Amino acid sequence: MNNVKIAILGLGNIGQGVWKILNTNSEEILKRSGYKIEVAKILVRDKNKARAVDVPEGLITTNPDDIFNDDSIRIVVELMGGVHPAKDYMIKAIRNKKHVVTANKLAIATEGEEIFKAADEEGVMLYYEASVAGGIPVIHGINESLTANKIQQVMGIINGTTNYILTKMAHEGMDFDSALYEAQQKGYAEADPTSDVDGYDAVYKLAILANLAFGTRVDVNSIYREGIRNIKQVDIQYAKEFGYTIKLLAIVKEIDGALELRVHPTMIPSRHPLANVNDSFNAIFIKGNAVGDLMLYGRGAGDLPTGSAVVGDIISILRNNIDLSSSNASRNNHWSMDVNNIEY
Ligand code: NDP
Ligand code: HSE
Repeated sequence: MNNVKIAILGLGNIGQGVWKILNTNSEEILKRSGYKIEVAKILVRDKNKARAVDVPEGLITTNPDDIFNDDSIRIVVELMGGVHPAKDYMIKAIRNKKHVVTANKLAIATEGEEIFKAADEEGVMLYYEASVAGGIPVIHGINESLTANKIQQVMGIINGTTNYILTKMAHEGMDFDSALYEAQQKGYAEADPTSDVDGYDAVYKLAILANLAFGTRVDVNSIYREGIRNIKQVDIQYAKEFGYTIKLLAIVKEIDGALELRVHPTMIPSRHPLANVNDSFNAIFIKGNAVGDLMLYGRGAGDLPTGSAVVGDIISILRNNIDLSSSNASRNNHWSMDVNNIEY
């Protein structure tokens, strides 16, 4: 049996989910990866904060150099959020020859080029399945299973918090603020929920999906964005009367060689499958020229669903051989460096 040491940056909602899965499913992980995973260090801001998981005190640190300077740590799992210092820590880990897993859609969507370039230069793997749609394997799906296709459209509900709010408002008559508070309590919302409510989170995820599906780097500022802050109970009730449900949709499609990208609330006929995606669930429709239409559906936020994607990425790295050479690593980093001419 092989042992591998990893470090986790962040022990919030998702960090704790990852800790639970690593402990609960350790036998399955060993069987599937061939490795016993040892969490050697966990970086936090506040050592004294109460946590819902029981982590041995000696593992917790507030000094990132405890991780970067430890050559025995082979994989760094970034679950802090934000651009700085998350991006800087990811690059530092990469420069110290550590493979990286992240759930950070903001850093990948806005700084992905620099992070992936560093990973390619150092010959390490960088995986980010959890950055889009929580537990749904959409990144793997587009990168691997659908790679034979020319993708024509990706569309769906890719923010759990706003979907939770809209569901509670529509089904229980709850007001916006109470529904947002519940989503925060359940660990679905970003540290700053403005990112969810105003559509930024969905924009970051759409940029990542567009990059993968169309091989084109997308500037997040070029994506049309409208959130759900102005949706009132009366809008939801009127929509219902006319047979519609309001959902926050993210859409990227190719029209005459140009990409159209947008995130906005949309009235969907109530019988449409997307209208019946509720709570924190996400759903993504993909249209490919060989596969036709397909839909991925599942939990788009929360500790265990997101942790499932994070731990899956760790296992992928172990299966791909953590000692691999740089040419192999580059093959595993599917970030596009091409910039085509795109019109929005
Ligand atoms: P939380 O805010 O719950 O947790 C963040 C953790 O990072 C905390 O433990 C915090 O420490 C630590 N941290 C933050 N900044 C620093 C710093 N400068 N130095 C050291 N530690 C730091 O966030 P989540 O767990 O909800 O999200 C983490 C990531 O996962 C984000 O990128 C998010 O977008 C992404 N994600 C979240 C999902 C969700 O459902 N919540 C789903 C998919 C992706 P301390 O606890 O001491 O404050
Ligand atoms: N805040 C995000 C959401 C977490 O609600 O979808 C999952 O990426």
